[in-house]
Amino acid sequence: MSMPRSESLLARAYKVIPSATQTFSKGPNQWIRGVSPAYLERGDGAWVWDVDGNKYLDYLMALGPIVLGYGNDAVSKAVADQFRRGPVMSQMHPLEVEVAEEIVRRVPFADMVRFGKNGSDVTTAAIRAARAFTGREHIVYCGYHGWHDWYIGTTTRSGGVPGAVKELTHSFTYNDLESLRRELTARPNQVAAVIMEAVGVEIPEPGFLEAVRQITQEHGTLLVFDEIINGFRIRYGGAAEYYGVYPDLACFGKSMANGAPLSAVVGRRDVMEIFDDIFFSGTFGGDATALAACKATIEEFDRLSVIDHIWDYGRQLSDAISEMIASNKLENSIRLIGLDARSILTFPHDDEYQSRLRRSYFMQECHKRGLLFFGVHLPTASHGEQELNFTLDVYKDVFKLFREAHEKMDFEARMDGKVTEPIFRKP
Ligand SMILES: Cc1ncc(COP(=O)(O)O)c(C=O)c1O
Repeated sequence: MSMPRSESLLARAYKVIPSATQTFSKGPNQWIRGVSPAYLERGDGAWVWDVDGNKYLDYLMALGPIVLGYGNDAVSKAVADQFRRGPVMSQMHPLEVEVAEEIVRRVPFADMVRFGKNGSDVTTAAIRAARAFTGREHIVYCGYHGWHDWYIGTTTRSGGVPGAVKELTHSFTYNDLESLRRELTARPNQVAAVIMEAVGVEIPEPGFLEAVRQITQEHGTLLVFDEIINGFRIRYGGAAEYYGVYPDLACFGKSMANGAPLSAVVGRRDVMEIFDDIFFSGTFGGDATALAACKATIEEFDRLSVIDHIWDYGRQLSDAISEMIASNKLENSIRLIGLDARSILTFPHDDEYQSRLRRSYFMQECHKRGLLFFGVHLPTASHGEQELNFTLDVYKDVFKLFREAHEKMDFEARMDGKVTEPIFRKP
């Protein structure tokens, strides 16, 4: 596929935008330079078009927000109507109440709701609330939770974060209760919150989430579930609802409003009431346009039984991929992990570069065939039979090529573009 406009935009971007991107995962070094498109300009259902007119089937869905599909009529109309009436107002808008009530009705552990604009807003709001509620300062986490100081200070991109802030956040390992106990017992009565995705790339071992719930209670520590990806996808109440283990606070974002920037922190009434006293407030906090998008998205969820559809599609996709991995005897080189509603293809290898090279080769061959593979499958209401058949046709070819490359060990020689780079480099 030819992509002169993508390349020319990228050249201009490097002159005026550091790293050429606003979102590291969308940046040019996360895709196959020379093969993947760099700029997408429109979408319809599950399909997207790059600036050079090439068409792709999308599975990354804007990193999660597009849960109904691009260009959903009901949401587009709700957004256009609300924007015309008043995108944000000088006082509160009734949609704040209506949408909060809808969320409380649908999310079993939500007594109250505060809205934000993105995932980082609400994970940070939850951390501040937990600190204020408990009078403690330390945080224990696993997984990714956004760009703010309290979290990113723990990563290799911690530049600009004060040392005093970094010292307050500690990691534990998912599915490893001992590592959680260790972090909590090392700081008795000092840990305000444990924050984690109830399920991310790894499935919880039986009893793990229940034990996390119990241990946090024993330590007087709040449990915050980051449902930014899972909320409004695997259940309205995300993984907490799916597994029946309820947190004190939970954070929602991504798929709430089919692409409009909206997030929410929800939870137990007594904890949420701490927001009366702390400062979490912003000009766009009650953005009526995003709330109108959320209301329309919820109505579409009901009308189209979206969550059931996502699971059903995901299950068919997972079954077919598992069969391809087995029939190509690639069990040690390609693994399908996660839940069917959010599955991930990984390319395990002891050497980090080799793993990246293999994933890059798989991406390259998918992109050439019009499948915008990034590793994760986030099915939407608009992934149907046609999309499934297209995916399986592409994967059939790509698995065969991958097996040949694996037999000959010539992945590097087969790369037409550049291998992706890690966002978090080893120090
Ligand atoms: C699990 C999780 N939490 C939090 C965030 C941060 O959300 P945002 O990028 O909208 O700030 C993300 C973003 O990818 C995420 O995947």
